[in-house]
Formats: sequence, C-alpha cells, structure tokens
Amino acid sequence: MDKVVITGGCGFIGLNTIDYLKKNKSHLKISVLDNESLGRKEYLKEFEGLEFFSGDIRDSDLVDRVLYGADAVVHLAADTRVLDSIADPVKNFQINVLGTFNVLNAVRNHSVPLLVNASTGGAILGEVSPPVHENMIPEPISPYGASKLSIEGYCSAFSGSYGVKASSLRFSNVYGPRSYHKGSVVAAFFKRILADKPIDVYGDGTQIRDYVYVDDICQGIYSSLNIGAEGVYQLGTGIPTSINQLIEIMQDVVGEYRDIKVRYHGFREGEIHTTYCDISKAEKALRYHPKTELTQGLKLTWEWFKNCTQP
Ligand SMILES: NC(=O)c1ccc[n+]([C@@H]2O[C@H](COP(=O)([O-])OP(=O)(O)OC[C@H]3O[C@@H](n4cnc5c(N)ncnc54)[C@H](O)[C@@H]3O)[C@@H](O)[C@H]2O)c1
Repeated sequence: MDKVVITGGCGFIGLNTIDYLKKNKSHLKISVLDNESLGRKEYLKEFEGLEFFSGDIRDSDLVDRVLYGADAVVHLAADTRVLDSIADPVKNFQINVLGTFNVLNAVRNHSVPLLVNASTGGAILGEVSPPVHENMIPEPISPYGASKLSIEGYCSAFSGSYGVKASSLRFSNVYGPRSYHKGSVVAAFFKRILADKPIDVYGDGTQIRDYVYVDDICQGIYSSLNIGAEGVYQLGTGIPTSINQLIEIMQDVVGEYRDIKVRYHGFREGEIHTTYCDISKAEKALRYHPKTELTQGLKLTWEWFKNCTQP
C-alpha cells in the first residue's frame, strides 16, 4: 500500500490516524479531503508531506479526483452529532449517506481495493441490552444512527457487488488529544474545567458509556488496513463507565488544578442510557487490543488540553 486517502482527516480521529500512520508506515503517501466544517487545515501543520484537498464529500467530481490512484480510503468525514441530525435530518442524510455513496462510487470507478469506514455502535443499535455486538438487530433512534446503518449497508453491497474490501468499524465513545473542537463528553468537560466553569451533565450521571482512547482506535484502523478487513466490528474497550465514575476519575486527574463543579439537567431526547460493547470479534479478526486504561488516557488527554492553543 503506497497511497491512502483520509476523508475528514482534519478532524479528531483523522489527525490521530495520520499521526499513527506516520509513525507506523512512514513511506505512506497520505491525502486528506476535508471541508473544514469542524476540523481545520491548520491542524495538519504538525505533519509533513501531506496532500490536502479542501472540499466536500457531497461533491462527486471532487471525490472522484481525490481518490484517483489511491490504494485505500479511511472514510471519517461525516455529520457526527446526534442532536444536529435530529434538528436537520436532511443535511445529515446528504452528508452521511449521499456523501459516502460518492466515496464508494469513486472507490468502484478507480478500483481502490480497500475502504475502512467509521461507524458507530450505540446510535445504530438503539436501547438494547449491553454489551452490544455485531449480531444484534439494529434499531437506530436518531437520524445519525440511521445514516450510519445505511452506510454499513452500502459498504457491504460494494464488497459483494464490486469486490471492494470494506470494513465498518463501530467506534464507541472515543476521547484523546486533538479533540478540542469536539462537543463529546470528555472534550466538553475538560474545556469547562479549564475555563473554571461547572460541567453540565444531562441526566443523573448514571448513564453508561464505553470510553476508548483514540490511539487504540487508530490501532484498529491500522490493523483493518493491513489485514484488508471486511464486515462490521465493534471497537471500544468492553468496559462500562458511568458519567459519575468518569467525573471522579477526571477529578483525580485534574486534582492539583481545581475542584470540578457539576450541574445536573434533564435527560436529552434521542440519547441512549446504557451502552458498552463486546469487542471479541475485533480482538480475534483484527488483532485489535485496546491497551490504554481510562485513568492513563485521561491524563494524556488532560496534558494535551492544558497545552492546546487551538481556538
Ligand atoms: N469521536 C467519536 O467518539 C466517534 C464515535 C463513533 C463514530 N465516530 C465516527 O468517526 C468519524 C470521525 O469522527 P471525529 O470524532 O473525528 O469527528 P470530527 O468532527 O472531529 O471529524 C470529522 C471531520 O470531517 C469533516 N467533514 C464533515 N463533513 C464533511 C463533508 N461533508 N465533507 C468533507 N469533510 C467533512 C470535518 O470538517 C471534520 O474535520 C465520523 O464518521 C464519526 O461519525 C466517532
């Protein structure tokens, strides 16, 4: 493999994937396609020798141009926020479903052999008994979840019909460095703590999630590329953690800095109460082995946030 295209490469998981690939496959030529709606081209400055295309995955001609000559695609670009998808399901559909269709069609046109697609577990499966796994019947409760399920369907169809090796990796709650622009729990909490403001918890804090450190997700992506994986895989840690437990650990991590103040609000529409995943399929087939404990991952993330100069 000589050339990989990363859609959404200016975003949180994209930047960390670039870092991981640079460290583990230094000869690889990396091209990034991003419309800078959330990530920024300037975030790529820390890396040398990248090719950057500014633009949207909804632009099929551009996507076709970018994928010419690629050996693999890591497809991360998406409308990623559950609440935004509830407010504007049309936009979510156009970016996630039609945009991904453009990516898959360009993969087919140029006979790109490999595609790794970023998917999600909780939002696709809905409120089911955890741990969630790949054999459960999907029942999304938000347009975001429905769009990701549809994308998985198209990945499978392009594997079956056109011989593309396509995998869909269902990430759980990813946290880590380079996530300042994110509204996800860990990023949102660290930003509030840095600003000396109370953190906002929607619900009573008993909600359970599976928090996974971003480097471990990058190992899963890297492994999927190397193996030429196909099918759907849950990537998380398999460890359930409540928001209240997370806050306790965060308090230990920022302990010398300040006391965390918490404000509790009502539960939010469209959000699942409890989800964590069974990662045994990925462990076996992808040799995916998350190794970063939550306390260690939060320490690394906090160090990055304290030194972050992003706007
Ligand atoms: N972060 C998580 O916890 C998590 C969990 C499950 C799934 N995922 C999936 O992983 C992928 C990456 O997530 P992330 O956390 O890095 O998000 P992110 O928002 O940090 O990155 C997404 C990037 O895609 C770009 N983008 C958005 N719409 C685009 C478009 N129409 N055309 C081109 N570029 C576009 C944004 O500018 C951004 O740089 C997404 O597909 C997301 O749904 C993430």
